[in-house]
Amino acid sequence: MRILLLASAFNSLSQRVFTELRARNHVVGVELALSDSIIRAGVTRFQPELIIAPMLTTAVPEDIWRTRPVLIVHPGPLGDRGPSSLDWAITIGAREWGVTVLQAVAEMDAGPVWATVPFPVTACGKSELYRTEVADAAVEAVLLAVARFASGIFRPRPLDYTEPDIRGQERPYFSQDRRQLDWQTQPTRDILRTLHAADSQPGVLDELCGRQFYLHGAHPEDRLRGTPGAVIATREGAICRATVDGAVWLTQLRERSPGRRAFKRAAAEVIELSQVPEVKVSPTEAASRKTFTHVRYFERDNVGYLEFSFRGGAMNTAACEQLLAAYLQAREQAVDVIVLGGPRDFFSNGIDLNTIEAANDPAMESLRNISAMNDLVEAILTTTDKLVISALAGNAAAGGVMLAIAADEVWCREAVVLNPHYVLMGLYGSEYWTYSLPRRVGHATAKRLTSQPLPLNARAAAALGLVDRVIAGDAAGFSARVHRDATILARDPDLTTRLVEKKRRLAADQADKPLRVYRAEEMARMRENFFGTRSTYHDLRRKFVYGEKPIATPAYLRG
Ligand code: COA
Repeated sequence: MRILLLASAFNSLSQRVFTELRARNHVVGVELALSDSIIRAGVTRFQPELIIAPMLTTAVPEDIWRTRPVLIVHPGPLGDRGPSSLDWAITIGAREWGVTVLQAVAEMDAGPVWATVPFPVTACGKSELYRTEVADAAVEAVLLAVARFASGIFRPRPLDYTEPDIRGQERPYFSQDRRQLDWQTQPTRDILRTLHAADSQPGVLDELCGRQFYLHGAHPEDRLRGTPGAVIATREGAICRATVDGAVWLTQLRERSPGRRAFKRAAAEVIELSQVPEVKVSPTEAASRKTFTHVRYFERDNVGYLEFSFRGGAMNTAACEQLLAAYLQAREQAVDVIVLGGPRDFFSNGIDLNTIEAANDPAMESLRNISAMNDLVEAILTTTDKLVISALAGNAAAGGVMLAIAADEVWCREAVVLNPHYVLMGLYGSEYWTYSLPRRVGHATAKRLTSQPLPLNARAAAALGLVDRVIAGDAAGFSARVHRDATILARDPDLTTRLVEKKRRLAADQADKPLRVYRAEEMARMRENFFGTRSTYHDLRRKFVYGEKPIATPAYLRG
């Protein structure tokens, strides 16, 4: 079938729907809903049999939905309507929510229903929920709706609020007035819930040190206590603020400054905190605590698990150094297998473009960041006495994919979307990709993957050899399966032979062309990207960080 995806942005969910439909042999195009005229032109050009809107923040023009079937993916259960569904789900403490695929009609979210799929509401930020449970349910609902549409006999169900199974309702836009925090009276649970419901957009507007900020990236804290509202500690760029019955960590702030654009930055770098202590936690201690940190380490059944989770998957210089230090420590332990990766959400999206944008000298900071990333990747590539596994519970892009493939094996949750390219940021890329990518997929495929900015799902990546194992199921099931399979590997009598072979192969590769030569060649190209006068990187990065929309749908998406 010819299916056109209409999306406000080619975001994670749109990318996932795109890859899943293509995998089922549909001819899929994408049109960004940048204006009514762009939508109309896109529909005329593509001539779709079906239009699907996986993520749309504007209305579909009437002449389009009257003349073609348009299915809207709404992140709410049957009967739910309104633009802030997930904010409401988190705020009312719903345990279960849903994704519903409705046909577009004049009234928003009121059309006949093609499919609806429930999902459990995990206690986390809205965008993490969106990229995980919501995305899983949305893909299932879209595939069901497409199959029903293709059958030609399915009649979508009109929305009738008198029917007993319709529990959703119309809910208003969730404005900042509803998000107000009172640090002097509200318990931690309520404060976390308000922050989670607003994360990562729009954040909760609040006052700190006499300035107005949108607060982002909330995490619970189990031990620190202080005067409610006060900032009582810092750690890894985050600040800890006391509540009446505990404390919460905030990782990012975005200043509200009318007339001036601002982007999210590490909280501790934005406000003046001379009297506030830095309270560190080790990766091992953090593994058994409910506190904020980027890196955790624990061992189980002769396997070391190095979990990491960086906001937006973005790894700045300090993050790379922190992870490298923890990795080197893990390498010293008496385990034969090391598993890398967090239990949920992004694996990694490469260097941190926000930190770079905020730096006094972005070109120099880019260089520092990529060098720190390369040091980490090199440590993984040159580990010969242990088997290293990258376990991707969530998506990875650019240098984040290359970080993953530095390991011996790459295991992916089936839902994962990979973007193994740097072109959208105008970068040649480093992270030893010129060594590790062709080694896995061959030179021709490596060239294709890195020159077209298209996403791949886990199964397609496995078919190319980029991924070794695809694991179906939800995020919790993925962690359990990774533990099981890693334990089996660690007990495998052939492991010693495998490690000997690994050492031999690395030595042969180094003799053929040393890793430092790959790095030097990549860095020569990256220096041109960072410091060259004809480079597009700084402009593309600025647009990304400030969330600027393109003026037209890029040709590679149109299909
Ligand atoms: N640096 C800083 N922030 C990053 C980032 C990076 N490398 N990659 C993602 N993010 C942030 C986004 O700004 C966004 O922040 P927000 O939620 O506060 O708005 C969040 O992570 C999620 O990203 P988003 O783009 O909304 O998610 P997506 O799933 O729709 O798209 C990507 C994911 C990876 C395709 C897209 O974010 C991207 O292209 N990132 C840049 C990758 C890159 O070029 N890295 C540098 C070269 S190594």
